[in-house]
Amino acid sequence: MVKICCIGAGYVGGPTMAVIALKCPKIEVVVVDIATPRINAWNSDQLPIYEPGLDDVVKECRGRNLFFSTDVEKHVCEADIVFVSVNTPTKTRGLGAGKAADLTYWESAARMIADVSKSDKIVVEKSTVPVKTAEAIEKILTHNSKGIKFQILSNPEFLAEGTAIEDLFKPDRVLIGGRETPDGQKAVKALKDVYAHWVPEDCILTTNLWSAELSKLAANAFLAQRISSVNAMSALCEATGADVSQVAYAIGKDSRIGPKFLNASVGFGGSCFQKDILNLVYICECNGLPEVAQYWKQVIKINDYQKSRFVNRLVSSMFNTVSNKKVAVLGFAFKKNTGDTRETPAIDVCQGLIGDKAMLRIYDPQVNEDQIQRDLTMKKFDWDHPLHLQPMSPTTVKQVSCVWDAYEATKDAHAICILTEWDEFKTLDYKKIYDNMQKPAFIFDGRNVINAEKLREIGFIVYSIGKPLDGWLKDMPAVA
Ligand code: UDX
Ligand code: UDX
Ligand code: ADP
Repeated sequence: MVKICCIGAGYVGGPTMAVIALKCPKIEVVVVDIATPRINAWNSDQLPIYEPGLDDVVKECRGRNLFFSTDVEKHVCEADIVFVSVNTPTKTRGLGAGKAADLTYWESAARMIADVSKSDKIVVEKSTVPVKTAEAIEKILTHNSKGIKFQILSNPEFLAEGTAIEDLFKPDRVLIGGRETPDGQKAVKALKDVYAHWVPEDCILTTNLWSAELSKLAANAFLAQRISSVNAMSALCEATGADVSQVAYAIGKDSRIGPKFLNASVGFGGSCFQKDILNLVYICECNGLPEVAQYWKQVIKINDYQKSRFVNRLVSSMFNTVSNKKVAVLGFAFKKNTGDTRETPAIDVCQGLIGDKAMLRIYDPQVNEDQIQRDLTMKKFDWDHPLHLQPMSPTTVKQVSCVWDAYEATKDAHAICILTEWDEFKTLDYKKIYDNMQKPAFIFDGRNVINAEKLREIGFIVYSIGKPLDGWLKDMPAVA
């Protein structure tokens, strides 16, 4: 029986291992983490992450061939294949601060593997890491190996949150990078055999180590670039009277471009896009490629521009001041169907509005007040470090309150802004909401989920990203 151990029970490690256990009943899978509360939650009815379909998968396998434990060393020692899925935040201090990946957690995991191993192992890099990390890890392992053989593989995960289980069941591809030596290829084959339980052979791609590592950064950079491209167009659409949805539809019909991932928004968020691009930029700079670094940096600059453009539009439309005005914020997670708030554009938008002295009442179906307060008081990049390692911030933002209902959030509000595309925001009773708001009633749709025409008929002044502007908004141009 093959034994798998995964270090790191987070958004990537947890769902991925649950699906491996489901699809490979003969393999024993143990997910370990140093965070006791997280492991306890994985062993309870209230899983630590919200992900559609995850509960069912965990229920079926937990206790059968899927286990969650804090006994990291024991399970690493017993495993044939060790996945490393620890967090790789952006460095906040020292060389490469604000750009380079912080490999502290990775390095300590590698040293621990070397320390406790008594048999040969395949070590699989699962978290996104800079190109050539595998090589560094290989050095740590071989220099501390006491005669044990380690093979390093890179097997980046491409799942997106909110659709993790679907993505794991039917991945576009599985990518495995390994050394081009006989032992390296043997290890690649062993991991391929795991995925072959449910993934068609032609979807399992094998490459060298560095190609696999770089492909993950490149895929995220390309995806983020598409969003920044369509968001840049959205600004031009507002200025010219074109409609970004029509433009996106028209260009997406070109089979070379394709229709997916062209939704204009208030900006992309999530733990991967910005972090991976910053990392790519840093690697380019370190390799003497400033022009390439500059090119990718622009993707992040447009994303920041889009968020501040949204805040400026809101403030300028409301007579250039939101001081003491009530703004209802609908949605805080970085996308729908997740409770994850890492790098959500809602943080920047809310901080912008707080800076202008607005009073915010926030509702998100999956995010609680503690999390929101923590996010709004956190320092840049701290979001990237595990919660249990962060002290709970003693301060709270007094201008912010949180509620569990969209109607309560919007009651008496001067304006609504929609920052996450939750389905329920499409079907709210906007007539009822309008009647309970202050007039003129504004709605700023950062996700293009509402029917602007219908809301205008009710009486709202509506702003939708990249759509032709209301007369009102045209008269109150936003200054950048
Ligand atoms: C991403 C990649 O999709 C995934 O392959 C990788 O493994 C991890 O990073 P994730 O961050 O979970 O996944 O979500 P994704 O669906 O990619 O969305 C990222 C951000 O882009 C969200 O804030 C989303 O709202 C935004 N987005 C996405 C848009 O603004 N417009 C779009 O058209 C698509
Ligand atoms: C382009 C558009 O494709 C077409 O839709 C539009 O109507 C006119 O402009 P064209 O310039 O004729 O058409 O050729 P295209 O095949 O798009 O190639 C443009 C350039 O890009 C060429 O120099 C081509 O060699 C280069 N290219 C294209 C690449 O370097 N790599 C690629 O993957 C594709
Ligand atoms: P991701 O989104 O990449 O899955 P997360 O932050 O959700 O990232 O999860 C990473 C997990 O890795 C955290 O739960 C953290 O406690 C865990 N972790 C970090 N370092 C170690 C380590 N040395 N040993 C075990 N677990 C670790």
